[in-house]
Amino acid sequence: MFNVQIDGVWHQFPKGTRVIEACTQAGVYVPRYCYHKKLSAPGNCRMCLIEMGMPRMGPDRKPDLGADGKPIINWMPRPQICCAQDVAEGMGVRTSSPLVEECRKGVMEFLLINHPLDCPICDQAGECELQEFSVEYGAGGSRFLENKVKKPKAVQLGPRVTLDDERCILCSRCVRFCSEIANDDVLGFVDRGSHTVLTAHPGKRLENNYSLNTVDLCPVGALTSTDFRFKMRVWFLKETKSICTSCATGCNTLIGTREDIVYRQTPRENDHVNSCWMCDYGRLNFKYLESENRLLEPQIFNGKELLPSDWTSAIAQAALQLRQVSGANIAIIASGRMTNEELWLTRKIADLLGARYIDIVPRHGEGDDILLSEDRNPNTAGARLVLRLDEEPGAKLLVVAKAVKSGEIRALLALGEDPSDFGISIEQLTNVPAFVAMDILSNTGNEHATVLLPASGFAEKRGSMINGKGRLQRLNRAVRPPGNARDDWEILRDLMQALGGSNGIYTIEDVFRQMSAEVPEFDGLTLSKIGDLGVHVMTVYESPRPPMEPQAKDIEKAEQRHPAGR
Ligand code: SF4
Ligand code: SF4
Ligand code: FES
Repeated sequence: MFNVQIDGVWHQFPKGTRVIEACTQAGVYVPRYCYHKKLSAPGNCRMCLIEMGMPRMGPDRKPDLGADGKPIINWMPRPQICCAQDVAEGMGVRTSSPLVEECRKGVMEFLLINHPLDCPICDQAGECELQEFSVEYGAGGSRFLENKVKKPKAVQLGPRVTLDDERCILCSRCVRFCSEIANDDVLGFVDRGSHTVLTAHPGKRLENNYSLNTVDLCPVGALTSTDFRFKMRVWFLKETKSICTSCATGCNTLIGTREDIVYRQTPRENDHVNSCWMCDYGRLNFKYLESENRLLEPQIFNGKELLPSDWTSAIAQAALQLRQVSGANIAIIASGRMTNEELWLTRKIADLLGARYIDIVPRHGEGDDILLSEDRNPNTAGARLVLRLDEEPGAKLLVVAKAVKSGEIRALLALGEDPSDFGISIEQLTNVPAFVAMDILSNTGNEHATVLLPASGFAEKRGSMINGKGRLQRLNRAVRPPGNARDDWEILRDLMQALGGSNGIYTIEDVFRQMSAEVPEFDGLTLSKIGDLGVHVMTVYESPRPPMEPQAKDIEKAEQRHPAGR
């Protein structure tokens, strides 16, 4: 540990701590543009200038001590940047001296020389560090009389990022992010002096799957999200802490909403999961919440068509239809997109019905070495644990498809999945006497349900999920579901009550409490104890990909594992 004096107070910091971080830890904020704790520190914006000194050495090469027994500091005559310098024993730092304040005013004046005065119409207004530091540390005026340099505006750097070069302060955060984190060296500066501009290298575009992180990183309004820009002023947004549910990584997010509409998702720092980043695919995967295909009312099939109903009748009808079938002829297709609470209630329903088959639908895509997981289900680990799957997720789907085809399955409960996706034809589905479907959107399969229950999207509900590394994390409600759609756990709780009587579950906390009494991995936890950053609860092992399309040989193999009559 090194002793460091910051603004007259001595502190201790471990070797290797950056001076700018040491200041933050000591409760002193030093303004910065180019510095970002997850990137290299080129020290090119000069906004973090401070006064720095080292201990005065006596003739014996030991520090001279003052009356307080601490080293006397020799202050350097010129200010230093503190973002590229580590702490050293006896170092002194002044962050608010007249010299430092004068320096910051000078840096701000330089940075603003060519910056356009378009704050009122700039999309970054409300979260622009240039505005904020200008007010906090700027000179309040400019001595620049010449014409500002004009630079390119509204340049499409890639499919999702728009660049306004006039606003760029050349901090190089975006350049470093692309080369150091996204492994895509696509951005750079060209031309000299006041005419330097940010651009993509010839023949390249900023189109990697992490491109929108540059928008988060840009301290000014130079890089904006093509999707979000000019849609909503950021000060109108309500931000809800949640997680991305588009793959098994479970990146921590902030969901920006206004009046029950999701406008954007941005990454929330969690060093156990996603550092400060998230991928574009997950970030933009929320538009379906506003889809025209949203299911808005419970519906019951009257023999000819699905007709809107009320919740009481729909749940009673679903329970009636399921109860009329023997458990040996019931299959439940749940989803790796469901929360642990929903999966636990599903398990209870399966036990009440004595359902013969229960499984989830695996979902895979191409992954990368950064964040994106091959497993596109956010809660495969939770499904294995809470549903007590005795085989690989998806292993029973082929058998279920075959059993539906043969007429053995007489009741099918599909939760957030379309049975027609895994080899069950529409004709076969229509032949199932009881097909109860709960989903967010209408799809080819659930149009043929006998009871259709409209559920909630990831931003509309609460619950917990376990990511691909075994971390239990919380999902939070940012908007209300549309129409008469309900939170999935409430629908399942009501169905469970209709099948098995009162169960003492009134809130989602009750579900978690009952679940944690049964699942040892959740022992001692509550939804609130999970906290904003989650808790590691289990070790997860990688599973091989099961086939999605039923092949004759796969069905044979699966039948050997699930012989008829088991
Ligand atoms: S575009 Fe933004 S992040 Fe990139 S160099 Fe310019 S100011 Fe920095
Ligand atoms: S890596 Fe996965 S969890 Fe993270 S933002 Fe992308 S899709 Fe979402
Ligand atoms: S933050 Fe230190 S030079 Fe930019």
